[in-house]
Amino acid sequence: MLIRHADAADLPFILSMAPRLAGVAQLPWRNDAEIMRFQRDFMTFCLSVPGSQSLLACAADGTRLGFIHVEPAVDSMSSETCGYVSLLAVTEDAEGKGLASALMAAAEDWAKAQGYGLLCLDVFASNERGRAFYARQGYAAETLRLVKPLS
Ligand SMILES: CC(C)(COP(=O)(O)OP(=O)(O)OC[C@H]1O[C@@H](n2cnc3c(N)ncnc32)[C@H](O)[C@@H]1OP(=O)(O)O)[C@@H](O)C(=O)NCCC(=O)NCCS
Repeated sequence: MLIRHADAADLPFILSMAPRLAGVAQLPWRNDAEIMRFQRDFMTFCLSVPGSQSLLACAADGTRLGFIHVEPAVDSMSSETCGYVSLLAVTEDAEGKGLASALMAAAEDWAKAQGYGLLCLDVFASNERGRAFYARQGYAAETLRLVKPLS
């Protein structure tokens, strides 16, 4: 497995992971189309953030297996610039082999190289596998957004 910087040729692969990222949002008060539209818009926005970076995990033969997207952000508590992991996904077949862990390590290297003292991220509350993964990576919840549909 190899981790490399993404280029324009990787964009179709990155965008093809939108259904996978949207699929972990089990939010009964949202419909599938709304979640998918949010995911696509969010990805388009993240990929255009100045100073942001996508890193690809590939097999030895070049097959794309996963990616992470990192970007500069402002830490709301300290007001300092920090790193934000906006997107992380691994193909279903490549799960459980340490790819996401390796991508997170690469994200940390990127953040340290920028001089940041903090990395943060958002995760759908319903994404138990993702939340357990991040907890093992040393991430702790700082705020939780609660919603109540009004009908
Ligand atoms: C969450 C996600 C990114 C994890 O990716 P992954 O590559 O499977 O993660 P890792 O392999 O690094 O770690 C996951 C598991 O593999 C195990 N593992 C790590 N290295 C391993 C290795 N070399 N060999 C075998 N297993 C390994 C880990 O112990 C961990 O165990 P678990 O089954 O208890 O979770 C992936 O499931 C995914 O893309 N999900 C959909 C999108 C998503 O949820 N994104 C994150 C939230 S935005």
